[in-house]
Amino acid sequence: MIDLFPLVRPFVHALDPETAHNATISALKLGLTGQLGRTDDDPVLATEVFGLDFTNPVGLAAGFDKNADVITAAHRMGFGFAEAGTVTPRPQDGNERPRLFRLKEDRAVINRFGFNNKGLDYFEQRLKHLPAQRGLFGANVGANKDSEDRTADYVTGINRLYGLSDYFTVNISSPNTPGLRALQSKAALEDLVARVLDARQQKMAAGAAHIPILIKIAPDLLDADVHDISDVALNSDIDGLIVSNTTITRPESLASRHRQEAGGLSGAPLMAPSTEMLAAVYQATGGKVPLVGVGGIASGADAYAKIKAGASLVQLYSALVYDGPGLVTKIKQELAALLKADGYSCVADAIGKGSR
Ligand code: FNR
Repeated sequence: MIDLFPLVRPFVHALDPETAHNATISALKLGLTGQLGRTDDDPVLATEVFGLDFTNPVGLAAGFDKNADVITAAHRMGFGFAEAGTVTPRPQDGNERPRLFRLKEDRAVINRFGFNNKGLDYFEQRLKHLPAQRGLFGANVGANKDSEDRTADYVTGINRLYGLSDYFTVNISSPNTPGLRALQSKAALEDLVARVLDARQQKMAAGAAHIPILIKIAPDLLDADVHDISDVALNSDIDGLIVSNTTITRPESLASRHRQEAGGLSGAPLMAPSTEMLAAVYQATGGKVPLVGVGGIASGADAYAKIKAGASLVQLYSALVYDGPGLVTKIKQELAALLKADGYSCVADAIGKGSR
């Protein structure tokens, strides 16, 4: 496949980042981008995690497709799974523009969108109109900014979308909704997990299938938080953790003029800290809780580093801004070669093998 992205990148990057993103979503939604990168996946990449069979472990991270508009296009890019959202119960405008910044020199992004999305009614309709033959995807659910009971919003999301997605992500780690990350503290998390799992239990008691529920955490947690969250995951029926969301820290090394913009930083500078946190969570959970590694992946070597630190699956977003959709095929090819070079016959055999 010829990769046309290097030709269009100067035009895309000449646009304001949010305008460029919206244009990309519109083009993907219309199917203007054709087949993109989809090829049959190397069998070494096949993997089973929380009862789902993935043809490859490389997923699209949440935030690219906030309204479940381009799930099919994500699979056509070659992603083994796509995560849509974050969706909140009611539609929400999010913060004032500008709220998305390219840090080109750092191969990074800062966003402070604040859960702009069209709400559950729209999201649900999009999921209902997906083709019967489709790839795996998750619904990432969140809480409205002005909600009195934020935990109830997650339960609402899961109840409304139950049976329409292959897994759920409970996103309690966005830095752009004030107070949201407090849900990561032990007492709040225990209450949230109990209520979310109770919602699933009720669905299953009524005959519905078991849908995996994952929790997405921040990269900026203290050691004590990591242990608390790991304990909650180990002692509950939560199916996995996603490590991590964007960071509110600003590494010294950042060179871009946008480096002090408020919001969550993602992309290359997040690779090391999020992988370190992933390794810490893998240690704290003794490898018993499936982990999704996300933050700064831009190559097969990056994806492999996450897997060796303890990830069963990986996700990416920011690198797509710089490298375009052809990156997905490249990452898969590189990852397959790295696994084989180390004598692994499947992804599962490499999980946690580089962990401290
Ligand atoms: C995000 N991310 C995100 N995560 C989430 O759970 N819900 C969301 O709505 C969003 N929105 C969002 C918007 C933008 C513009 C970016 C760049 C990111 C976080 C994303 O899913 C991922 O966790 C981080 O970006 C780290 O991965 P990358 O981008 O470094 O590969």
